[in-house]
Amino acid sequence: MTTNPTNSGSESPTELQPNPPADLEAPKSAVGSPSPASKSNDPTFIYVICQNGAEAATKLELMSASLNLNLAFSRPGFITFKVDSRNQLTERFSLPSTLARTYGWSLGKSVGDEATELVEQIAQHPKLAAAKHIHIWQRDPVLPGRNGFEPGVSELAAAIGELFGSTKVVKKNGQWINRVAKPGDLVFDIVMVEPNEWWYGYHFADTIAQRWPGGVPMMDTTIETCSRAYFKLKEALLWSGITIKPGDICAEVGSAPGGASQLLLEMGAQVIGIDPAEMEPEILEHENFTFIRRRSSEVKKRDLRDVKWLIVDVNAAPKFTLDAVTELVQHPSIDVKGIILTIKLLERKLIGEIPKLMAQVKALGFQVVKSRQLAFNRNEFCLVGVKDKFVLRSGKKTKKIGKPGPESKPKSEPESEAKPEWIVESTPESGLEPKPESETKSDS
Ligand SMILES: C[S@@+](CC[C@H](N)C(=O)[O-])C[C@H]1O[C@@H](n2cnc3c(N)ncnc32)[C@H](O)[C@@H]1O
Repeated sequence: MTTNPTNSGSESPTELQPNPPADLEAPKSAVGSPSPASKSNDPTFIYVICQNGAEAATKLELMSASLNLNLAFSRPGFITFKVDSRNQLTERFSLPSTLARTYGWSLGKSVGDEATELVEQIAQHPKLAAAKHIHIWQRDPVLPGRNGFEPGVSELAAAIGELFGSTKVVKKNGQWINRVAKPGDLVFDIVMVEPNEWWYGYHFADTIAQRWPGGVPMMDTTIETCSRAYFKLKEALLWSGITIKPGDICAEVGSAPGGASQLLLEMGAQVIGIDPAEMEPEILEHENFTFIRRRSSEVKKRDLRDVKWLIVDVNAAPKFTLDAVTELVQHPSIDVKGIILTIKLLERKLIGEIPKLMAQVKALGFQVVKSRQLAFNRNEFCLVGVKDKFVLRSGKKTKKIGKPGPESKPKSEPESEAKPEWIVESTPESGLEPKPESETKSDS
């Protein structure tokens, strides 16, 4: 059965009152045609994907942004909002959100116990025929990292993707299934909210994360790593456009046990780890790794004088992280090009402080400041700052650092997919390129 989205959600929208913070940017709405809502009187809905358990915080963040959104439906990791005709969202809208992993216009849902029937029903939708890509994924069942779960296209979603691939429509139109979209491509999305309840909609791949199925970079999460921080940092680099080159000196505050250092060493960087706790022996013994077994406040600043990239991942309150960063980057002997911070969301109310934290980082001299709750983050988000937006333009070299994740393989590679997506260095693309303005922004 196919239905339109309804107000059958489990949570009341009235529990969250809009309270717009003055410094949260209005949505970027200049690109594209007017929103579907402004073209007719029909109710129009958007869907938003977030981390499992982050729904209330995501709603709070979005409803604070004066977008005329009303909560319609909510499940862990999946939310829909009704958008009224006064909304400012264009068809290619962008949400001013740190927590929204990806989003798009919702077209409804199909419910049924037979996968083949659901596939046939959804495949009839005219928007699917018009799309270049089909992305299909399951909402996160639990917090990433719990019980071995990691976000991405599950085996079930990959199998359903193959069913879509065998439909007449897809055979005729040749859509790519669960592949990374090219910048600007129209993507038809199917979110398996429950095994028998699939919601569908569409979006345009206007940012790097919108090019990934479900907003999750495709990477092999079965490889052996010292910690999950390996995947976190890999996603942070892909999303932010920061390119670490061989020989770059990177310092990581909170480096133990060593997942992030492992990635940096694989990329050919020189790594200085700072942590009072123990590193994994394989990291400690690496010729390009130097360990300062101390707290950040006890580090001699001259030991960090050639550091280009500062990574901070300490299990402490945001204020502690910001104070530690401030102390380091304001020291006259230190001149980093960029910082990659993990900010712990110890309480939900910290969501309201994200714009303030970003402004603080900007005041330290970072021209571009971006935030995002990465798919591989847990109760935390990533905040990056670079002093010169042009460092975000990556070189032409590509470097493989792992294997591709599960996906439905097309019969032949489309031109844009000549380079695999598990690269860290890539040619500039819409989501990686610095925006023209040098404003502090929240960018999903
Ligand atoms: C989440 S773990 C970091 C994981 C690490 N980035 C990795 O790649 O495996 C947090 C680390 O922060 C360290 N830490 C806490 N306070 C610190 C401080 N003041 N200075 C340096 N490290 C600190 C802890 O000892 C802990 O190892």
